[in-house]
Amino acid sequence: MSSTASETASASSFDGRVALVTGGASGIGRAITEKLVAAGARVAVWDVREDRLAELADRHGERVLTQVVDVSDKAQVDAAADLVQSQWGGIAHLVNNAGIIGKRMTLADLDAGELERVLSVNLKSVFYVTAAFATRAGSFADRSVVSMASIAARTGGMVGNMAYAATKGAIVTLTHAFSKELAPHVRVNALAPGIIDTEIQLDSLGDPAAVAALADVIPLQRLGAPAEVAEAAVWLLSPASSYISASVLDVAGGR
Ligand SMILES: NC(=O)c1ccc[n+]([C@@H]2O[C@H](COP(=O)([O-])OP(=O)(O)OC[C@H]3O[C@@H](n4cnc5c(N)ncnc54)[C@H](O)[C@@H]3O)[C@@H](O)[C@H]2O)c1
Repeated sequence: MSSTASETASASSFDGRVALVTGGASGIGRAITEKLVAAGARVAVWDVREDRLAELADRHGERVLTQVVDVSDKAQVDAAADLVQSQWGGIAHLVNNAGIIGKRMTLADLDAGELERVLSVNLKSVFYVTAAFATRAGSFADRSVVSMASIAARTGGMVGNMAYAATKGAIVTLTHAFSKELAPHVRVNALAPGIIDTEIQLDSLGDPAAVAALADVIPLQRLGAPAEVAEAAVWLLSPASSYISASVLDVAGGR
């Protein structure tokens, strides 16, 4: 396969760098992992999907370090971060991407257990993983974080997805808070995807036709592709965005 000038330029921009992608076995996280590997990084991938992690390991060999980690469990996060540090020395880039939509629930049928689950997987994990990253710089001086928020942070999400939306709003808040605490050597930004064609949409709506119909509410008249979000994530992680911190970038087709 021939490569363009820009592919050649980006192919070396993560040489020698270590990245960590949570929820990197599927969807947007998988697309980010693929782009980081293509750009020269070694990528630690944490996910609960053992089968998909195994596929990634088969495909990329020693360029990836796959670990079954439930990011809502602080002890698992700390142990996994220790392993990355002992194998690769430190972590230069973090993508807080793992997330679940949760069961639909309204105020009338609030389920405390489900609320706790969504808060733990989507939000507490961001505290745990970012804290584990913060103390494991190794020899990397310039570092960066991208967290996956959502336009649901400002729209409140679809009715029934309020717990999910609340976690995404909090991720925007944490982007500002972390960017101050970790400056000047770590830049911290967030992406706010709109409706991206991954399994999370099917988990939410349960029907591929209903997912496809969402194109009608998007000005660009189509769902986004995981690779389009990954492109923005890799740019925000890279030195190309060296003066950008505490920003939230919509990747939402104009929505
Ligand atoms: N797809 C969209 O339309 C959309 C829009 C806005 C934001 N997002 C956000 O993007 C991120 C990625 O979502 P996606 O659309 O790729 O969904 P996805 O379901 O394809 O991928 C999510 C990944 O996270 C993993 N995961 C779930 N719980 C975990 C846990 N406890 N520990 C570790 N890994 C866990 C899953 O196994 C999966 O591989 C999520 O944070 C999501 O909220 C997605």
